[in-house]
Parts: sequence; C-alpha cells; structure tokens
Amino acid sequence: MRLNPASSLRGEITVPGDKSISHRSIMFGSLAKGTTEIDGFLNAADCLSTIACFRRMGVRVEENVLRPGHVLVHGLGLRGLHAPDGILDVGDSGTTARLISGILSAQNFTSRLTGDELIQKRPMKRIMTPLSAMGARIASDRGNDCLPLTIEGCRLRGTHYDSPVASAQVKSSILLAGLYADGETSVTEPTVSRDHTERMLSAFGADLQTAGTTVSIRPADELHAQKILVPGDISSAAYFITASLITPNAEVLIRNVGINPTRDGILRVYKRMGAHITVLNPRESSGEPVADLLVRSSHLSGTEMGGAEIPTMIDELPVIAVAAAFAEGTTVIRDAAELKVKESDRIAVMTAALTAMGADVTPTDDGMIIRGGKMLHGAAVETRKDHRIAMSCAVAALAVSGETEILDAECVDISYPEFYRDLKRLTVQ
Ligand code: S3P
Repeated sequence: MRLNPASSLRGEITVPGDKSISHRSIMFGSLAKGTTEIDGFLNAADCLSTIACFRRMGVRVEENVLRPGHVLVHGLGLRGLHAPDGILDVGDSGTTARLISGILSAQNFTSRLTGDELIQKRPMKRIMTPLSAMGARIASDRGNDCLPLTIEGCRLRGTHYDSPVASAQVKSSILLAGLYADGETSVTEPTVSRDHTERMLSAFGADLQTAGTTVSIRPADELHAQKILVPGDISSAAYFITASLITPNAEVLIRNVGINPTRDGILRVYKRMGAHITVLNPRESSGEPVADLLVRSSHLSGTEMGGAEIPTMIDELPVIAVAAAFAEGTTVIRDAAELKVKESDRIAVMTAALTAMGADVTPTDDGMIIRGGKMLHGAAVETRKDHRIAMSCAVAALAVSGETEILDAECVDISYPEFYRDLKRLTVQ
C-alpha cells in the first residue's frame, strides 16, 4: 500500500465495533441459555476466528442477519458445548486463544488449540500457570508454552491468583474458568486492565465482584442470553484521532466511540499533549460508556506516560508514538514492556518504522523515548504483519513529505478491513 501526504482531514466517521467486546459477545452468548442478539459486531478476522471456534463446538451463529454486524448466537448453556469436530484455530487472535482456554479447561472433553505463525510465538504460560493452579490439564504440544495447546477438560477448583501482569486476557481466562470452579475464584492485577468481561458477564447473570484491583467470581449454574449493542472501538478511532491532530486544518467527528475508563487513556494523554478533542453526547450503550469525539488539528507537546495508565491505552501506544514524533519536545513511554508480546514486538517494530521515516526514537526495555519535531519523510516501512503497526504508519504517512509504502498492508484485516478506504474518504489530498 502506497500513501501520500494529506493537506487535511475532514468529515465524519463511525468506526467499526469494539474488538474486545465483539469477542466476548460471541463467547458469553455461546455459553448462555437462549439467543443472544448482537448489533455492531466487528466483522474482522480476529472476531471471525472466535465465531469459527464456537461453531466447531456446536454453537449456531448467524452472521449479518438484518444488516452487517447483526449477529445471532444460539447459546448452548454453560454445559452444552460439544467436543470440537476438529482442531480449534484462533488465527491471529490472542484474545480468542487466552479466553477460550479458560472455558475449555472446564469442559468434559479434550480440545486442541492452534493458530497462525504469529500467535504461535506469543506467550501462553501467563494463562497456563493460573489455570493449572485451578487443576486444569493444559499442555503446550511443543513444550514451549506456546500454541498449539492440548486442553483436557476437568473439574476445577476455585483459587486466588496474583497476576504479575495487568492483562485483561489473563484476568478473563481465569474468570471464565471460575464460572465452572467448585468455589470462589479471584484475580488481583498490579493495575486495572480493561473490564469488559466484568461488565458483560455480570449482565449475563454471573456473580462477579470488583474491589480495587481484585475481581472475584462465584460459580454459575446458568447464564442468560442478552441483547448487545457493541460500541465503536476506541483502538480503531485512535488512528483517526491521531491523523486529525497531526494534519493541518483538520476537523473530524468520530461517532459512537466506546470511552470505557479502562480504555480511554489515549484521550487523557493527548489532552496533556495539548490536543483539541471534545467529548460530545456522552451516553451508555449495553453497560459501556460511549460518546462522539470531535477532533481538530493541534499543536502537540511531548509528555511522559507510565504506571497505571499504560493498560488503559496499551493498544494505542504505537499510534501515540506517531503523535509524539510530531510533537514538540520529548515523549517518554515507560512501564509498557507488554508491548513486546503483542502481535509483534511493538517497541522494536515501531522504533524501526519511525526511524525509517526520519524520527528520533530510542527503544528502551519497557517503552520508547521519542524526541519530536524532526522533519519526517516517506519510507518503505515493515509492519511485521501487525495490524496496529500498519495503521499507525498509515497515519504518519499523511503528515510526512513524500510517499510511504506500508509492507504487508493487508494485515489490517485483523481488526479493521475497511481502514484504508475510510482513511482515504476523510483525506483531503
Ligand atoms: C484484550 C486485551 C489486551 C489487548 C488486546 C485485547 C482483550 O491484551 O492488548 O488487544 O480483549 O482482553 P492484554 O490484556 O493481554 O494486555
């Protein structure tokens, strides 16, 4: 994909449905009794992998019934899943792999889980350790704590787990196993990660409590089907927010964006950097806060970020790094070592991409130091097939001089298949 600089960005956009919430709507809908009706479901490769896995276990899922993103999940109840009719393939999706492992650990059948070459390198020990402490029989086929996994379902015991990482995937995997355990299960995180599981699973009727950074769950007899309206994904909105901030004379209205406080760190960081972002019409949608965002070109200054705010913007850090490269002064990202175990090593890959464009970036063990304000130029940038790197580089491409080539650009299909079309539509050349 080749992209040229934009003279501005203008217009309105509704970004696709939230990826985290879309995954959970299929999973919890499959485990509930009755038909869960979803609107705004994200039709992208990761979430389609979740649908494929549950179909293999007998769940009937009807996609795009009345309109795109309208999905019906005919749940089989907590104990109604069938032994899969083949290996479960999670594609590139870490959320599918980690959350489904918690569910599979408690079934009365054995399942095998695999995925593409990228996910086969990502760490699964983080869920294998706590699930094993609950009694799960979960083994990595190659003995390297990565996919493929074989999971022999069995009876689980409730446990308390002190997680060394703030990860909603780890937390959710344990909580889902806890639905089936013989007593209370709880997880404490170093700082709070996204809480979509807590919100949605409670709506389905699970008995969950949150106290500070600890979430506990009691075993459930039954979950009840829900109607879910998936808000737009703030992680997808992040690209248009950033593109509007760094291009001249921009004004873009992004409608229906999820602004859950465990996800909206980017808004707070950009505010510190001097961004003109107005939150309009705040409201609730299926238990999640939502708003429209009006974004205008801004003169940004560097800032420092770290600690508890990092999990609230973990997926946005690559594009925040782009904004930092266009800001005046130095930006420091710390406490973000988790970036190294995402779809790519996002510290290394983003540093390489921005450096190729002429930015001054130093990678660190747990983040990056970006000295902003350099004149950037187009380049051929490696994405390592990481969708968020591709979209971040596409945003940078609008505000540099000359042409940029995004390699493996089609990897955006993972979370946002229409991304380039939507970006083009807003771009004033
Ligand atoms: C996700 C949690 C995050 C995030 C991922 C989706 C989820 O991962 O990076 O894109 O849906 O729970 P971690 O919680 O492991 O950081």
